[in-house]
Amino acid sequence: MHHIAALCLLSALSLQAQIQYIESRKIFLLTTSKNSYAMGLGQDGALRHLYWGAPIWRADDLAAAPARRDISSFDPRQMLEAEEFPGWGGPRYYEPALKLSREDGVRDLVLRYTSHSIQQNNLDIVLKDINDGVEVTLHYHIYPEHGILRRSATLRNGTSRALTVESAQSATWNLPPGEGYQLTYLTGRWAAETQLNHEPVHEGQKVIESRRGNTSHNFNPWFAIDAGDAAEEHGSVWFGALGWSGNWRIAVEQTPYRQVRVTGGMNSFDFSYPLKPGESLDTPPFYGGYSSGGFGAASRMLHRFTREQILPGGATSRVRPVLYNSWEATTFAVNEQGQKDLATKAAKLGIEMFVMDDGWFGARNNDRAGLGDWTVNPKKFPQGLKGLIDHVHSLKMDFGLWVEPEMVNANSNLYRAHPDWVINFPGRPRSELRTQMVLNLARSDVKEYIFDVLDKLATENDIRYFKWDMNRSFTEPGWPEVAATEQRKLWVQYVRNVYEIIDRLRAKHPNLEIESCSGGGARVDLGILQRVDEVWPSDNTDAFDRLRIQEGFSQAYPAKIMSAWVTDVPNMNTRSTPLAFRFLAAMQGALGIGSNLNKFSEQDSALATSMIGVYKRIRATVQTGELYRLASPRTNDVTVNQYVSGDGKQAVVFALRHAQQYNTAAPTIRLRGLDERAIYKLESINNKLVEHQQQFSGAYLMNAGINVNLRGDFDATALILERN
Ligand code: GLA
Repeated sequence: MHHIAALCLLSALSLQAQIQYIESRKIFLLTTSKNSYAMGLGQDGALRHLYWGAPIWRADDLAAAPARRDISSFDPRQMLEAEEFPGWGGPRYYEPALKLSREDGVRDLVLRYTSHSIQQNNLDIVLKDINDGVEVTLHYHIYPEHGILRRSATLRNGTSRALTVESAQSATWNLPPGEGYQLTYLTGRWAAETQLNHEPVHEGQKVIESRRGNTSHNFNPWFAIDAGDAAEEHGSVWFGALGWSGNWRIAVEQTPYRQVRVTGGMNSFDFSYPLKPGESLDTPPFYGGYSSGGFGAASRMLHRFTREQILPGGATSRVRPVLYNSWEATTFAVNEQGQKDLATKAAKLGIEMFVMDDGWFGARNNDRAGLGDWTVNPKKFPQGLKGLIDHVHSLKMDFGLWVEPEMVNANSNLYRAHPDWVINFPGRPRSELRTQMVLNLARSDVKEYIFDVLDKLATENDIRYFKWDMNRSFTEPGWPEVAATEQRKLWVQYVRNVYEIIDRLRAKHPNLEIESCSGGGARVDLGILQRVDEVWPSDNTDAFDRLRIQEGFSQAYPAKIMSAWVTDVPNMNTRSTPLAFRFLAAMQGALGIGSNLNKFSEQDSALATSMIGVYKRIRATVQTGELYRLASPRTNDVTVNQYVSGDGKQAVVFALRHAQQYNTAAPTIRLRGLDERAIYKLESINNKLVEHQQQFSGAYLMNAGINVNLRGDFDATALILERN
């Protein structure tokens, strides 16, 4: 019955235009396979939000936004309305999507509809101020299969005088009127990123943001809101993620009138963006979606969307190779012979890409010198990089290189030649963090210089991969070369120029891949992900800590982009976990090895070789399959994650026990996402399965479940299921 209803709805949907405008009622209805979004024009021409939720297909069902009345002089009707993109003006006291100041001091902004255009999956709605030529175009793009709506805005100064933008948000998302909502979001710090938080939405504002110039470890620009009753596999979840790698802000606001709205975009803190007549400002994309299938389904929507629509190459991009990175083995003490030896050892394990980290250039023997001088250190590499790269290639591996192009040490030739190139306020301290300063990439000359450096490296050497690092946030964000009124454009222009450099590099070197790293996970967002292939989620590679970091990360981002290394123990903490446990934690992302291979015993090498072999068998499922989080490390003594391949033929379950207590058996694992009628062959990679047979129906696996023998501390297994 359920199935038939769903089929009817689907065929009805496919008959509908995906973006509709109903002229008689002045209603916009945007529908994807998973949700609908509706807006309407009031009598006064204001654009109001009408609906965001499960798919509806009949626009006639929608009523135009109701005309409201003032409740009191303190509760004007504007406060009761769900304006789609509110300017700051008139009696509006909540978070505006746009705030500006005109040259003559007039700051009132009231936006009204003037026109719209629909082209396939795109809708543009033009709003204009009631009095002058300030014009805002709201951009909507639907991804029908993925259930995602992309929103952004372009503000144009159509007046004859200058104005200054004080807040430019990408979107305001209105939730259905109500109370009892819960907010889920990610917080963290260096080496403890993407921790999951879940709390009630109360009256007032909850702000998550970055004021650091980069995306930041402290908050990630992603949110999910549920009606208070959602869980991993059920319930309504509204979610969104920003595509911006600079100062950003997402404000979740509940008004006294049972309204909850989420307003997000570029951070309005220290923001000031002058626009001359005719100039415009684009806000970054804010992607949103709704799922009726809980947090799990919401994540799966974002994962698929990011893989297919955001990442370079989309669905056609290759699965991530297994890489080796030398950082934790050598730190700055790199040289040609040492790297060659590590490469030889890495190749024997089945590694596919060898990445040399920090220390190969200039006077870089520690983190106090050399940053900015991107020439190969001749003492460490007498033949340039060629000797090492040829060796790596002879072992049938690709070569990758660490760079940190945005930074400079005071003790560097670059800084001695161009002390004016760093972000600074004249006469004020230039705060150093990790003894380094930030180059002002908002400047065109600096941008061109950095592009040339990287272009030259990629042209002169056969480099497949840059690990692009950024190891500090901004301080004293001055740009003395431009007028004081223009200086705060730095927050925006810097990010645009980083994007431009990467875009140009990739266009010129189509095989080049990039990993985004910022002291771990401080630059992970859908903006940078349009131009990189992987990210480094955290400098913390302790396998147990990683389980929680990865759980939070997986709420918003797919496994394919999540670099995950096996490293030596203890790491970060004093804890030691077995090598198998470390592998099984890291095999849930894009596997890498960061151990000192010179210290590997024969047993370690044998285990690593076999684990890498297993990983290659399952990695397409892990990286591009559907993730089901079966048991959370926050609430269980076992973390269990399951991945099902796109074609349903393979599934993989990772079960990692943290600490056994009271001799209790590990809980039964009930799988998800399988075909009830199909038979699956089941295998535990290290014989941890306690079952009477190795073939089970999907129905049994999902309903009765299976048992694994995980005992003691840090015992783990992976189960591979192949459909018959
Ligand atoms: C940062 C990165 C590390 C490593 C070092 C090198 O901390 O996150 O992975 O590359 O820089 O200095």
